[in-house]
Amino acid sequence: MSSEKSFYITTPLYYANDELHIGHAFSTLAADIASRFQRSMGRNVHFLTGSDEHGQKVEQAAKAKGLSPIEHTDRLIEKFKSLWTLLDITYDDFIRTTEDRHKKVVCHALNELWKKGDIYEAEYSGWYCTPCERFWTEKEVPEKVCPDCKRAVQEISEKNYFFKMSKYQQQLIDHINNHPGFIRPENRRNEVLGFLRQPLGDLCISRPKARLSWGIELPFAPDYVTYVWFDALTNYISAVGYPFDMEKFNRIWPASCHLIGKDILTTHAVYWSTMLMALGLSLPECIFAHGWWVTGEGKMSKSVGNIINPRELVARYGLDPFRFYLFREMVFGMDATYTEENFILRYNADLANDYGNLCQRMLPMLIKNRDGQFRKTAPTLPQSKEIAEMAAAVKTDYINAMENFLYHDALKRIWDLIQRLNKYVDETAPWKLAKEQNWAVLDEVFYTIGESIRFVSHLVEPFMPHLAPEFLRQIGCDGQKVSISDLAWGQLADGTRCTEPAPMFPRLETERIQNLKKGSKGEAAPKAEKPAKVAKTEEKTAVISAEDGLVSFDDFLKTELCIARIETAEKVENADKLLKLTVNIGEETRTLVAGIAAFYKPEELPGRQVVMVKNLKPAKIRGILSHGMILAAGTEDGGLALVSPDKPAKTGIRVK
Ligand code: MSP
Repeated sequence: MSSEKSFYITTPLYYANDELHIGHAFSTLAADIASRFQRSMGRNVHFLTGSDEHGQKVEQAAKAKGLSPIEHTDRLIEKFKSLWTLLDITYDDFIRTTEDRHKKVVCHALNELWKKGDIYEAEYSGWYCTPCERFWTEKEVPEKVCPDCKRAVQEISEKNYFFKMSKYQQQLIDHINNHPGFIRPENRRNEVLGFLRQPLGDLCISRPKARLSWGIELPFAPDYVTYVWFDALTNYISAVGYPFDMEKFNRIWPASCHLIGKDILTTHAVYWSTMLMALGLSLPECIFAHGWWVTGEGKMSKSVGNIINPRELVARYGLDPFRFYLFREMVFGMDATYTEENFILRYNADLANDYGNLCQRMLPMLIKNRDGQFRKTAPTLPQSKEIAEMAAAVKTDYINAMENFLYHDALKRIWDLIQRLNKYVDETAPWKLAKEQNWAVLDEVFYTIGESIRFVSHLVEPFMPHLAPEFLRQIGCDGQKVSISDLAWGQLADGTRCTEPAPMFPRLETERIQNLKKGSKGEAAPKAEKPAKVAKTEEKTAVISAEDGLVSFDDFLKTELCIARIETAEKVENADKLLKLTVNIGEETRTLVAGIAAFYKPEELPGRQVVMVKNLKPAKIRGILSHGMILAAGTEDGGLALVSPDKPAKTGIRVK
């Protein structure tokens, strides 16, 4: 066994209360892609995933099914694992928080902190959100609704146990400042630093058994169970040997990356980091919080009914196109909107036309004219030289992007090469060279194409682990394994013989898109992204308020509405309610000030499309020239919903 430090990557432990959807699949696929890439760079990889099985949500889900919690989770875990098999997830370990190997470590950690005085007992009263299983302070819940899930909170007063999180606040701030890559992307790092500007409270880490019995008992207080987050976060060390197999632990820990969604950033960046500090352990090298997959109705959730089932998509389109789509479409770190129409368009353009078509077009010609053999030639045509150089540059950029979890950039660079290659085919017209029997140039062209397909297929393999090898097989490199770090131009051996190409990405019928369009009632209609309140005439919180009385159609047309894409958002100094936005409206970028700071965090906004009043006279607000106004409406729960198109619309286009 090598003593080299492993590349250790983790996914969140998914709650064993319900089945998984594409959001969960996405995090796990991201970790799988990173693992495959790192293995192909020759590193030892340890990839951990698992299930979070304690707590109220799981207990309630089991009760609703008439099962004991463990019966319920045993069944669900089989489904989790079968999804990971279907998606070909190459995890090394699956940890369940109900396993003894985990529970022992949670008890050990609790005892350590208790002995050290970092856990203490106190009477506590606060506002409790049952679905989120967390307490809020009086100040945090002015409306007595949970700031996260918007459901009612209850006031509870009881004795509990607390972790002295506040003690580590400054140490954590220093760590974040000294390690720029610790919390990524940059906007999430700023979000955490912003959060840490307020005094950090201590963390309640117990729940009285009278209220919740499904958890790990506190070793020093048998009437209590451990708070589910304290329990779950510990998995990242319990699964790799802490503290009972320190040889293993030291080989694997610290984690290279905890890959998580943005919803669980605070628990990881703040709770987990301070827990590790208290235990005297190193912090993970990176916590990467990616964005959400949303649909027109916002974040996916069962109650909204907008869940996208990964199994259905794999059955319909195949595993590799599904894996590819998720990472080509989403800028890793930002939110992305899933639509099936978009999936089909992307598939047809990038896979069927660009990548798949290359083999389909070229290999039959190679078989017909050169007996299917690639003949190695040094590039003489300027375009061939350009492609050889481009391949080397793409590899460098790709490695850089993949090391930093910038999957979108990595795929973009690969597709730059593929597109250049398709252009190369048009420029060099091999069919003409064959007619002219210009074998020397024809061989060079075929070699450049074959070598590029080999290159691209190796780079794309972490994303498409089944079809990339199939491309390699077709060009005569069946089973070829090359470490990406060793991949170099010119490795396609002289005399390599291709096979008859099999269709790889049959074009998807655009008929399905037509049907989808009909189903979605034609044009993208602007729609509120959260259920909006029926307009009340006295509604004054909306950014734009309707005047009483009727207007003529001509009058209405005087207001020019357009689709704006928010580029940046920041707080306006000394103004709690205002955000300064820069928005792109196609032909120009505007600055405007919007009264939405109480409802949206600045980091949630970039990338969103909203509806804007374009032809409003500019006005100075707090010294900022605001030119335009975005539309929003009050929600049932007293919040605010921005008005946005229900599918991506053309930025700048007029809303009619
Ligand atoms: N059990 C906790 C995590 C404990 S980690 C020690 C939990 N579980 S969860 O089942 O709710 O999973 C949340 C994670 O699933 C998110 O952080 C994200 O990784 C993924 N996703 C769930 N919905 C998502 C989207 N709609 N889009 C992208 N990923 C999201 O929180």
